Amino acid sequence: MKRQLPKRRDLAPLLKFKKPTLSPKQRRLASALTIEDLRRIARRRTPTPAFDYTDGAADGEVSLARAREAFADVEFNPAILRDVATVDTSREVLGSRVALPFGIAPTGFTRMMQAEGEIAGATAAAEAGIPFTLSTMGTTSIEDVAAANPDGRKWFQLYMWKDRERSMALVDRAARAGYDTLMVTVDVPVAGARLRDVRNGMTIPPTLTARTLVNAIPRPAWWFNFLTTEPLVFASLDAWSGTVAELLDTMFDPTVTYDDLAWIREQWPGKVSVKGVQTVDDARKLADVGVDAIVLSNHGGRQLDRAPVPFHLLPRVVEAVGSDVEVHLDTGIMSGQDVVAAVAHGADFTLVGRAYLYGLMAGGRHGVDRAIEILRGQIERTMRLLGVGTLDDLEPGHVTQLRRVTARPV
Ligand SMILES: Cc1cc2nc3c(=O)[nH]c(=O)nc-3n(C[C@H](O)[C@H](O)[C@H](O)COP(=O)(O)O)c2cc1C
Repeated sequence: MKRQLPKRRDLAPLLKFKKPTLSPKQRRLASALTIEDLRRIARRRTPTPAFDYTDGAADGEVSLARAREAFADVEFNPAILRDVATVDTSREVLGSRVALPFGIAPTGFTRMMQAEGEIAGATAAAEAGIPFTLSTMGTTSIEDVAAANPDGRKWFQLYMWKDRERSMALVDRAARAGYDTLMVTVDVPVAGARLRDVRNGMTIPPTLTARTLVNAIPRPAWWFNFLTTEPLVFASLDAWSGTVAELLDTMFDPTVTYDDLAWIREQWPGKVSVKGVQTVDDARKLADVGVDAIVLSNHGGRQLDRAPVPFHLLPRVVEAVGSDVEVHLDTGIMSGQDVVAAVAHGADFTLVGRAYLYGLMAGGRHGVDRAIEILRGQIERTMRLLGVGTLDDLEPGHVTQLRRVTARPV
């Protein structure tokens, strides 16, 4: 091989030193190419008890691992030579159009993960044209979320409390503030066993112990935000000092049944969806009650461990009730490919919990924007690579569900 000294003229086009234009936060977020990348940043920046409260699940965390495994096991079957110059990711969900086939799931105590909390989620969702769901356990009030997101779609998630009047007072406030859908969560008759929270001594609000202080040293931004913003309280509940599990068990009503649901249906003027459906039989019963949507979910693996994998359950539920109610799905979604796979198997819509919270913890509002942007990019690219131009063109044949876990009929 003949060698020569590089000439300045040859080197010039290779040198691409640019003046840094992004802020450290923007650089950090731009370097995240996947939700898993956002998760890694989130972990570095968030105190362990708050990160683990978000990242963790119940007992052995098997439900969550299986749900993610089920998506990882997907095999896509692309169609070739289709015109995919443009893709349309929008569709009609519960009465109006959404720009993408996913929305933000309800999550409790969101300002503990990062001080911008629900406002970051609601404003990012509005800008992206997707619904934002506020939890009963939220840390921003029904009215404040509505004020921050006056035009975007807002859904309110209801837990039934032992004190029915107070539950219904929340429902009234949500209706008056312009929330169009009531999402009733039914998989928390009692709290799941979140062992990481117990091991971390997670309390609400977080307490300062010698251990928390040591953990705080490399995470100064979180603590600065925490100590210089409004005190962290539940917006819809009385002040509480204790563990999350104790709170759930004190407040929530384990006697709620189908009759209560029919009653709630009568009180709410908008659409009703029921979250936490885990069998075909319950899906049928809910279709008979006349709800507008069901959400196949095992609560992100945070309630009953080793519960059915929603993605495995999906085809049978769609077959049984898909023409009567909208079928939504969550748990384990970490990429746009997961969303596409769920839609191909008949989900009308999906929800993301942690994927959004990792973005929030990684960079507040901008982090949520980045999470949505990552998912949107993955959805559009996967649709194009599959040779489909609209969500309605996606069909079960595009996705083979390989099953590491044998799903028995439920
Ligand atoms: C930190 C955290 C808090 C949650 N709080 C609630 C809640 O208050 N109400 C509710 O219905 N679901 C709650 N969920 C469950 C989510 O709505 C959703 O079902 C779940 O996160 C979906 O799984 P994924 O995180 O894998 O996307 C919570 C989930 C997480 C991770």
